Amino acid sequence: MKHGLEHDRPEDITEEDLPDGVILRDHVVDGIREYDQRLPMWWLIILFGVIIYSIIYWVVIDDRSFTGGVDQRLEAKLDAVATKRLASSIDVTNDSLFYEMASNESFVAAGRSSYEANCVACHGSNLQGGIGFNLVDDEWVHGSTPSEIYVSVANGFPEKGMQPWETLLGQKRVAEVVAYVLSENPNLIP
Ligand code: HEC
Repeated sequence: MKHGLEHDRPEDITEEDLPDGVILRDHVVDGIREYDQRLPMWWLIILFGVIIYSIIYWVVIDDRSFTGGVDQRLEAKLDAVATKRLASSIDVTNDSLFYEMASNESFVAAGRSSYEANCVACHGSNLQGGIGFNLVDDEWVHGSTPSEIYVSVANGFPEKGMQPWETLLGQKRVAEVVAYVLSENPNLIP
């Protein structure tokens, strides 16, 4: 069998010159002829693989509506980091730390559930008071700074019927309750 290269002019190449299964198209452009062959399997696998991957990537990783989006997940992560940092650095004399806790969703949520379990009976579900004082007004008998409120809750007022909560809940959970009270009373936050 003769090989294509042995011809001087590409127009002269015929099917017989080619290996089995290779089709040569009729046209000649600038002396160049064109094979008409099936694409190799490895090439097709890469092509369709990339297309499928791009769809999966778009839907699962990039599309914001599908899994909550990158921004939202980043925010959740930052929030978790801030929560950990706050939890490990609780200093109940540091007012600005309390303000930070009051704007941290995890702290406030934890504080709310402690409040609902332990304080509602005397201070009401809206913190408007009852047996105990109103916690969402402007009047503070025992001080209105976060660290003062912390002391009120931690030591309680046993002679008035409010027990010292620090012994029961521990420092972290009392701090969370204070954060919750701060978050409910905008007057307390400068
Ligand atoms: C058994 C009732 C009772 C429970 C339960 C109770 N308290 Fe009180 N609380 C009181 C009373 C009564 C006072 C007022 C003390 C006084 O007369 O000086 C008070 C006062 C306070 C004050 C001081 C308010 C101010 O004006 O300075 C804070 C803050 C407070 N409570 C928070 C809490 C929190 C938070 C909880 C839950 C962990 C809680 N209390 C649970 C009865 C209660």
